[in-house]
Amino acid sequence: MKAAILTALNTPLEVRDDVSLGDLGPGDVHVKIISSGVCHSDVSAQNGTIPCGCPTVLGHEGAGIVQEVGPGVSDLASGDHVILSFVPACGQCTPCQRGQSYLCGRSMAIAISPHFMLDGNPVGGFTGLGTFAEELIISEDCLIKVDDDVPLDVVSLVGCGVTTGVGAAINTAQVSPGSSVVVFGCGGVGISAIQGARIAGAAEILAVDMVESKLDQAKHFGATHVCTPDALDQLKTEITAGEGFDYALECIGNPATIRATFDAARRGGTAVIVGVGRLEQQVTFNAFELFYTDKNLRGSMYGSANVRTFMPKLLRLWKAGKLDLESMISRRIQLEEINEAFSAMQEGKVIRSVIDFS
Ligand code: APR
Ligand code: ZN
Repeated sequence: MKAAILTALNTPLEVRDDVSLGDLGPGDVHVKIISSGVCHSDVSAQNGTIPCGCPTVLGHEGAGIVQEVGPGVSDLASGDHVILSFVPACGQCTPCQRGQSYLCGRSMAIAISPHFMLDGNPVGGFTGLGTFAEELIISEDCLIKVDDDVPLDVVSLVGCGVTTGVGAAINTAQVSPGSSVVVFGCGGVGISAIQGARIAGAAEILAVDMVESKLDQAKHFGATHVCTPDALDQLKTEITAGEGFDYALECIGNPATIRATFDAARRGGTAVIVGVGRLEQQVTFNAFELFYTDKNLRGSMYGSANVRTFMPKLLRLWKAGKLDLESMISRRIQLEEINEAFSAMQEGKVIRSVIDFS
């Protein structure tokens, strides 16, 4: 079967057609991928921002159909439509039992267990998934069953960007009705955060991006105001009388915009960092301001979402016409076009490219 593989950091992905699957072990499920979104975190794996071994099958935002279940799997059966969750929800570990499945203790074990075979050697998938492949094997803990009548391209976006962004607004920031929100970055994650803020009832939503065309798109998804970074102070004055926003969300992963996000929140407000920067990059705060500004500075892992309940909720919002997922799909591509999709994302030309495997 075909899969797109990162063989070395900072090199193009190689699409190979001689990849095979390992054994279907206890608790494992064999899934045929129908659709996979291309997320910035895949680019971040390629350029070393997010550590991952090589070779690896990239892709972590996918949806597909169960082909076969391994020993002990009772909640899924052949033919079921599923979202792939890039963090497991085992339900057994301490974080899961505490109600924080997005911090599931099985994540690392799953992320480093290889399920592909290439040239006679086991090969892993990014975050344990590897959705840039026609098929994969994954633990049942990473699969969320969805209704058969929801198109799987729409479903695939929920696998990462939509859960991450909407979740950051609703679960992490807990945006309240009538509040003011600023979102930095209008890619798949930022656009989802804008939609989350809109669903939560924010009165003003300012979208900030350095690419003008992204700003036009942000308005369609619920931004009430838009600007490039140079105009931020002016808009902050206009919208909040200079006080700062109730909620500020960073959906880029850059130290400068992380710092700007903290600064954009009002005293007593909330700054949420969704974007993923490099391990060696630093963001500095002086020892006075953290106390004095009384801000909530929060990280947000997978939208602080308990995927088994939150993902079905997102699809109900979609069905109710309150979450626009179709318009987030800028391009439909074949797996062979993956490197062009990476370039298009880095050039700010797309919200999401979606690989069609059907
Ligand atoms: N100032 C303003 N906008 C910026 C800047 C900047 N310095 N740098 C990048 N952007 C904008 C881009 O123009 C783009 O619209 O941020 C957006 C990022 O979107 P994508 O590249 O599509 O990334 P996305 O998939 O949304 O992920 C965003 O969340 O999950 C993490 O790892 C992911 O760190 C990444 C972030
Ligand atoms: Zn992602």
